[in-house]
Amino acid sequence: MKFFMDTANIEEIKRADSWGVVDGVTTNPTLIAREGRDFEATVKEICALMGNRPVSAEVVSTEADAMIAEARKLAKWADNVVVKIPMIKEGMKAVKVLSAEGIRTNVTLVFTAAQGLLAAKAGATYCSPFLGRLEDMATDAMGLVKQLAQIYSNYGYKTQIIVASARRPEHVVQTACWGAHVATVPFKVLDQMFGHPLTDRGLEAFLADWNKLQEELGKQ
Ligand code: G3P
Repeated sequence: MKFFMDTANIEEIKRADSWGVVDGVTTNPTLIAREGRDFEATVKEICALMGNRPVSAEVVSTEADAMIAEARKLAKWADNVVVKIPMIKEGMKAVKVLSAEGIRTNVTLVFTAAQGLLAAKAGATYCSPFLGRLEDMATDAMGLVKQLAQIYSNYGYKTQIIVASARRPEHVVQTACWGAHVATVPFKVLDQMFGHPLTDRGLEAFLADWNKLQEELGKQ
């Protein structure tokens, strides 16, 4: 499973990347706005940090022709830009054109298997179902990922599922069990995935016993 950082915060990206498990970054207009910086400069800086690893940057147009023009512009910012397109009819028209031109796309704001199937039919590189927002509506979000994985496998779609709106480690683990290709997570969730109190307690005990032995040997 690939891990993308779902943030536009440079320090978070650098810190998470130092842990050696980051395979890319996803942004969206809200995440960009949160940083309060120029969109192009932020995306280019993240792309440089990621090297050849994919970085999603979202269009803000809502008509197909304007989306296509915007996407072509974003794709020129760096070779590792993936263009994020919202799951609307105009967006699927744009994805169809862009995928034919070899521009990688990430269809976002996906909430049903029908939407995910349409994204794959349009030729999307990635499809981003939003788990946390579905759970906010008391909807079976995990079931959606399971359905999408099954549908994509049934028909051999190359579209990769990016688990998005991931709010806790369980979202990553459970969807990894069902074969989601990528999880895009906030810094906090990735940080949480490393920790467990029994690990801390066990390491503390190992080191205490080791140090006790060294002291005893020093006394002999
Ligand atoms: O990648 C989509 C993600 O940024 C949305 O997360 O928590 O606002 O639903 P959230």
